[in-house]
Amino acid sequence: MLLIANWKQNFSWNEAEEWLQELSPRLKEKKELEIVICPPFPFLPLLSQWRNREKLNISLGAQDISPFPDGAHTGEVGWRQLSSWAQWVIIGHSERRQLGENNEIITAKIKQALQGGLKIVLCLRSKEDWPALDWSLEKIKNRLFLAFEPEEAIGSGKPASLESVNKFKEQIASTPVRDFPVLYGGSINARTVTEFIKLSSLKGFLVGSASWKAKEFKALIDVLS
Ligand code: 13P
Repeated sequence: MLLIANWKQNFSWNEAEEWLQELSPRLKEKKELEIVICPPFPFLPLLSQWRNREKLNISLGAQDISPFPDGAHTGEVGWRQLSSWAQWVIIGHSERRQLGENNEIITAKIKQALQGGLKIVLCLRSKEDWPALDWSLEKIKNRLFLAFEPEEAIGSGKPASLESVNKFKEQIASTPVRDFPVLYGGSINARTVTEFIKLSSLKGFLVGSASWKAKEFKALIDVLS
């Protein structure tokens, strides 16, 4: 089971350290549960140093990646800047799609992430969001995870129904991505997750707000461990 924490645009440096301080004992424990923390870019080295020093049993992910190779792209952060700190990257989050990110950009980002050896969490609001990739999916097996994140469930306190997750699984069953692991994201916390763990087809969860308070994230880890 995979638990991916998307910090989004939250935390000051001090708050990130406090969160780490509080969660470190729990994150040191060896668990079946695989935990990935995706902080804002500037905190990746901080979390990476904590991880190494405290021997935390976590991986780190970026919340986005540049669609370009190194060059004159002001504000972009590419795989060559990320790969020392992150093992994962989130691509195509609906909050970025709302800003105009389309499948052409998303495909270019996937290519860059693969070049950097990163594992990818590709966020899909529905099957229609799947980009038409013009390369063999065989080579990205074990590297690509699909996160079903219906827009209305994100940050609303109301997760999607189990039926909608099943429907998503059914919809992709006839597509080339049917064998890729599926995660669910949208208003998951220690309370709401209990329904979703009944779905054996889910390989894990992508959580936002429930990861921003150490206490809430700890509670979620407890339910999933
Ligand atoms: P919430 O868990 O706050 O609904 O956010 C989900 C999300 O967008 C994770 O990427």
